[in-house]
Amino acid sequence: MSKELVQIFDTTLRDGEQVPGCKLNTEQKLVIAERLDELGVDIIEAGFPISSPGDFKSVEEIAKLVKNATVCGLTRSVKKDIEVAADALKFAKKPRIHTGIGTSDSHIQFKFNTTREKIIERAVDAVKYAKSFVEDVEFYAEDAGRTDNEFLARVCEEVVKAGATVLNIPDTTGYCLPEEYGAKIKYLKENVKGIEKAILSCHCHNDLGLATANSISGVRNGARQIECTINGIGERAGNTALEEVVMVLRQHPTLGLDTRINSQLLYSTSRLVSENMGMPVQPNKAIVGANAFAHSSGIHQDGVIKNRETYEIINPADVGVTESAIILTARSGRAALAYRAKKVGYELTKLQLDTVYQEFLKFADSKKEVNDKDIHEIIESSKLLNLN
Ligand code: KIV
Ligand code: ZN
Repeated sequence: MSKELVQIFDTTLRDGEQVPGCKLNTEQKLVIAERLDELGVDIIEAGFPISSPGDFKSVEEIAKLVKNATVCGLTRSVKKDIEVAADALKFAKKPRIHTGIGTSDSHIQFKFNTTREKIIERAVDAVKYAKSFVEDVEFYAEDAGRTDNEFLARVCEEVVKAGATVLNIPDTTGYCLPEEYGAKIKYLKENVKGIEKAILSCHCHNDLGLATANSISGVRNGARQIECTINGIGERAGNTALEEVVMVLRQHPTLGLDTRINSQLLYSTSRLVSENMGMPVQPNKAIVGANAFAHSSGIHQDGVIKNRETYEIINPADVGVTESAIILTARSGRAALAYRAKKVGYELTKLQLDTVYQEFLKFADSKKEVNDKDIHEIIESSKLLNLN
């Protein structure tokens, strides 16, 4: 079955870098941008050029370096921001300006102290101005998650008329439920005149742990771009995790959607970003966490040793992890001990295994994890190898 492609818009270097205390320098950003290009992302949001001279320089250097992906710069709906972004992107093979404004009542009232009509005017002016520099203009309706659908549809319709080619519908505060976010995308698909000229984009935050579910709900309802970051990094609880949405689509072929991502680079890209940001990946993180393919209870280990698919829905090699790990703990069974003993060079008979296992349990009760050296010592010190 041929699948429709969902564009992957990576914002690790912009929204992701907004993590408190995790600054990247230009050199680090270039290393990450090059890797993202190799990974196969469609768009790299390289930064917010007006925010600082350093960010301008990073966007400019990334624009020169990147070979395949579109390079994007963020702006507010402010002329100066747009001019500076266009300047930073001038060397990009495929430049995109990402401009926008808050559309929820709370943004309109408290941030801008203005009216809905004035917001539409500013949005349209910004898109037209950005369009005078580049063909590819994406518009974001900040806090779209809490924006009334009817008004959001009006904003979208006007900015599409002004030339926006992508409509970003951010759940800025990570508040929406998956059904609600999906319904919002569906409503826009059905009610915005001219919507066929633009791509709807999901940009979800993870404040309630729903960013991945919301993004998937978005594409199931007609969005064709997902904005995400490696390891889900970003402000507060972060953004949608790139590795998660890519693997959800790949593991569920019946959805009829896929991306261009080379998933075998996911694990190493995760580590590259983690090391450069100085931000460890939580061990139980889906897809790329240290425990994502580790099995420690006896029942699971026995199953996985017999057939990986009993407890694994993803082949670790598909995301660049060499093999599943069988972790030895006091909860492990004989099958796991025999498997690990074989790996360190001991082919144990049934009788040997029974005896070594008792020694192993005594040892394992005093330690969180039994390593290769421990296995070696347990077997050697139990002097049981002459048993047949
Ligand atoms: O979360 C958000 O609304 C954003 C926009 C600036 C795109 O990051
Ligand atoms: Zn965001």
